[in-house]
Amino acid sequence: MRIDIVTLFPELLEGPFSHSILRRAQERGLLEIHRVQLRDFATDRHRTVDDYPYGGGPGMVLMAEPLANCLDHLLSQRKYDEIVYLTPDGERLCQSLCNRLSLHQNLILICGHYKGIDERIRKLYVTREISIGDYVLSGGELAAAVLVDCVARLLPGVLNDEASALFDSFQDNLLAPPVYTRPEVFRGLRVPEVLLSGNQKAIDEWRLEQSQQRTRQRRPDLLPPD
Ligand code: ADE
Repeated sequence: MRIDIVTLFPELLEGPFSHSILRRAQERGLLEIHRVQLRDFATDRHRTVDDYPYGGGPGMVLMAEPLANCLDHLLSQRKYDEIVYLTPDGERLCQSLCNRLSLHQNLILICGHYKGIDERIRKLYVTREISIGDYVLSGGELAAAVLVDCVARLLPGVLNDEASALFDSFQDNLLAPPVYTRPEVFRGLRVPEVLLSGNQKAIDEWRLEQSQQRTRQRRPDLLPPD
């Protein structure tokens, strides 16, 4: 999968992709991330990318022309499956959307700043608008990093234990069960006996029961209505 991230602050996106699983995914050739500097597509000598909003009000708006130039340039190089704008008024990111995005070849992510991007870019280019939650970040970069992380770990070959993403929280609308590792007793707290039993059927049943209980207690909204 190739992901082009259009941003005014490419440095913000260096750290999140240089470690651990995302780094390995790139080293294995499973994921290509390109940070595209929007300012390189400005048309005046000051390299202006933002302007005052028509109608007044606080904050600046990212101008249509540099964004259109940037997107035209990318679209002239290859076909993209989705052009995603990260924005608090977008569709809420969830695991099933990550699963669907992970099936694509090429994605563009647009990071907004200030008051957002000119509405005409949303109309003319953007195919999907995504929010990572009901709060406002100071820019789309951290949201893009979250999205890339969630999607990249689902690509075949990225996780060492191929099956492990299947057992994540949310994969079947249930929260994950509790997990334990050595020692068997820590500060008086014992690992549940069933996990030491070697009886895989009993372990699977216990895990499902724990997942259901946790979901009922913490996120009843995930459960189907009775
Ligand atoms: N940009 C600013 N806030 C955001 C959010 N919550 N999700 C996605 N992009 C954003």
